[in-house]
Amino acid sequence: MEQQIIGILGSGKGSNMASIAEAIDGGRLNARIGCVISDVEGAGILDRAEQLNIPAFFISGDPYRTKLDGDAEQRYLAVLREHGVQLVALAGFMRILKKGLLDAYPDRIINIHPSLLPAFPGLAAWEQALDDGAKVTGCTVHFVDTGTDTGRVILQKVVHVADDDTPGSLHARIQEQEHLAYPEALGTIIQK
Ligand code: GRF
Repeated sequence: MEQQIIGILGSGKGSNMASIAEAIDGGRLNARIGCVISDVEGAGILDRAEQLNIPAFFISGDPYRTKLDGDAEQRYLAVLREHGVQLVALAGFMRILKKGLLDAYPDRIINIHPSLLPAFPGLAAWEQALDDGAKVTGCTVHFVDTGTDTGRVILQKVVHVADDDTPGSLHARIQEQEHLAYPEALGTIIQK
């Protein structure tokens, strides 16, 4: 089986990226991270990638704030292609992808979301779960389409909500499951 080259896009601290890198290092995933790109200058994900000797780039998403489109999309595509990326994993990337990138990687872009979709799409899903009084929540790895947190589900992991959970404690437990779910989901895709 040919080794897959993954490109990771993220805006935050990069714990999911690190869990994917760890799975690769541990021989649990037949892949290589070709590059990491962030739309946030100085984001933790870039520091962590550099520490792991993974090519890491800040690429502005300007002039847009919440989507990746136009010239910005082309800038991302160029770097992904330059690094031979075959599979794109969004890990806390805070922009909506548009047609240019989706068409360049049909069924090859995946995302992780901190809820059991279709429940609680959008921002701060763990807070939504608490506000709603949900007894279970979790995380979902799914294919990315033109919607927000829509797209076919690949894998989900359940987290029980405790009576005394705070947004912080619940998010931390969801993230523990994310770090198992993302490498596992990538494994199922890479195997195909
Ligand atoms: C994760 O909770 C993920 O579900 C959400 O953004 C967060 C990213 O965390 N989409 P990290 O940067 O991987 O630590």
